[in-house]
Amino acid sequence: MIEEHSHKSTGLRGVEVADTNICLIEGEKGNLFIRGYDINELARNSTYEEVVYLLLYGNLPSFDQLESFKNAIISNQDLPPQLISHLQKTSKNTPSMSVLQSSLALLAGYNNEIGTGKRESDRNIAIRIIARLPIIVTAWERIRSNKEPIAPNKNLKYASNFLYMLHGSIPTDEEARIFDVTLILHAEHSFNASTFTARVIASTGADLYASISGAIGSLSGMYHGGANHLVYESLMEIKKVSSAEEWVKNRFNEGKRIMGMGHAVYKTTDPRAKILKEMAADLVRRKGGLAQWMYETTNKLVEITQKEFKKRKNRGIYPNVDLYGATVYTSLNIPVELFTPIFTTSRVAGWTAHVLEEKYPETPTVKPVIYRPSAEYVGRYCGPLGCEYQPISQRSTQSAAGELVKRLVTDELTKVFDDHLIPVSLSARHIHLSKADFHKLFGEKAVLTPLNSLTQPKQYACKEVVDLIGPKRAIYGVRILGPFRDETQVEISRSDGYVLGINPPTRQSGDLRDTPGVHIIGPKGAITLDKGVIFAARHIHMSPKDAQRLNVSDRQIVAVQFPGTRAGILDEIMVRIHPDYNLELHLDLDEGNALALNTGEMGSLILDLKEGSYSPFR
Ligand SMILES: CC(C)(COP(=O)(O)OP(=O)(O)OC[C@H]1O[C@@H](n2cnc3c(N)ncnc32)[C@H](O)[C@@H]1OP(=O)(O)O)[C@@H](O)C(=O)NCCC(=O)NCCS
Repeated sequence: MIEEHSHKSTGLRGVEVADTNICLIEGEKGNLFIRGYDINELARNSTYEEVVYLLLYGNLPSFDQLESFKNAIISNQDLPPQLISHLQKTSKNTPSMSVLQSSLALLAGYNNEIGTGKRESDRNIAIRIIARLPIIVTAWERIRSNKEPIAPNKNLKYASNFLYMLHGSIPTDEEARIFDVTLILHAEHSFNASTFTARVIASTGADLYASISGAIGSLSGMYHGGANHLVYESLMEIKKVSSAEEWVKNRFNEGKRIMGMGHAVYKTTDPRAKILKEMAADLVRRKGGLAQWMYETTNKLVEITQKEFKKRKNRGIYPNVDLYGATVYTSLNIPVELFTPIFTTSRVAGWTAHVLEEKYPETPTVKPVIYRPSAEYVGRYCGPLGCEYQPISQRSTQSAAGELVKRLVTDELTKVFDDHLIPVSLSARHIHLSKADFHKLFGEKAVLTPLNSLTQPKQYACKEVVDLIGPKRAIYGVRILGPFRDETQVEISRSDGYVLGINPPTRQSGDLRDTPGVHIIGPKGAITLDKGVIFAARHIHMSPKDAQRLNVSDRQIVAVQFPGTRAGILDEIMVRIHPDYNLELHLDLDEGNALALNTGEMGSLILDLKEGSYSPFR
């Protein structure tokens, strides 16, 4: 009857969702294999075109196969003129990744092989997308910079052609080779966020254009492909190698991440980062200048980040593929705005291979199906009939007040409230015990002691906690609050009720009959409650003196504002006046509040909600 405490695979770390023939990552060892080939071998010996062929067809091409594949790419390079004129009309402030994403979706209108459901047709579409993406990236960059787009040069290879369309001059062999290797390194990386996005979209039966444009959106995020240009910006902020230490420490102190460091899968240096580091070192030896400064600052950034991470989290953190890319791209005169679009130009090879595998599995030991994970509902729950629906006319007072509060807080009033803070203690979900039940759960010798962190007078607690077991699930670590009462009583939030699988009455009703059963398991024994489980309302305890000072009356509804971006406003708080209490907000936490607020936060009281006006207390 009682389910295990639920363990969610947030981020799907380590959850296998498919069979794949495309890519193997050995995160602990720092190895990456594409279709069985070590990334180091591919970077040393292959071209990007060969790696794309390998991804799309499963094998490295023969000479003839490669030639005809290169021709297929060249013959697909033309962009529909309508798309170019669309780019010309697009606002130059549009982020390049958004332009790419929307262009990809629009290209679906210029392909009559779409939707045939045949692997060969879809592979042709993949080749067409791979051929056209660099044209869009470079055309957009030039349009954005008030220059005319440059048509592809059909005599050039993929990498040289990209640099040619960007700069208007044919790159040296060395420049083309460096760029080619960066493309190889970014071409494929298994079930990362963007690839998974592409596969999820493909699993619905949507076409390749939809999958790839979705993947582009996913890659644009700063924790994914967007990290490379942030590495560049970090280096520019650091300015001097000698400032790296202070910069990194500040970043950690502010709870921000160091871009280009860390990886969800690698637990050592990303093998691609090693290759890019060697390339950057080589460029520094030959070119010096900006590349040298960027390289040295990056190395210092790594050293300090690793030291600080070890000190703060007691574990290692390592460079990822985005770290040294900034130095390499900059030395090729590539503007920072293009770092992530170039990543896209390369990764599209992996995405399309994955979409083909999703749609036409090569070894279907696990047949792909439409992705459909599940989530545990922890939101509002008012019992089997749902919450009482209020007509809009009855909602107006409350929402107008809420709106007013939001508006006031976003502008000048925040300053006013700063002077009128009240100490806030958040009470966790808790239970009040009868003496007999207390001894049953904790043993005869256990005692309740005053708890310093509780500011209510005459409040006691036990160091140990109990577990509540409902028909649906359990909630662990529930605190006991004293003094003892005649009857044992559990106070929980609505979401707790939902987790446990029960629907108790609210505290205001005072009616504890017919509450559903909950088991309470303590260190020494267990009891079963068939009544006494209640939903606790949010309330503030206030002494009559404080109430007078604040001009607030018993049962008045007020709101409380908390500082900080996550805290926000809690309205509909009831004031309870009692001779024994100091002013104290006593919030029975649901998960949302628990996350948003920390015990000891200072809050400001906002009165007169119902009248549509406010007055901070004085
Ligand atoms: C890539 C990334 C999203 C992986 O995140 P992840 O899978 O959650 O990482 P882990 O599980 O190994 O580590 C998570 C912890 O390390 C911290 N951490 C991870 N990378 C960090 C970084 N670059 N800087 C500072 N702290 C970092 C997190 O804050 C978190 O700390 P917490 O557990 O105290 O909350 C993360 O390392 C990151 O944001 N890196 C910077 C962005 C980047 O370079 N992305 C490109 C990846 S190729």
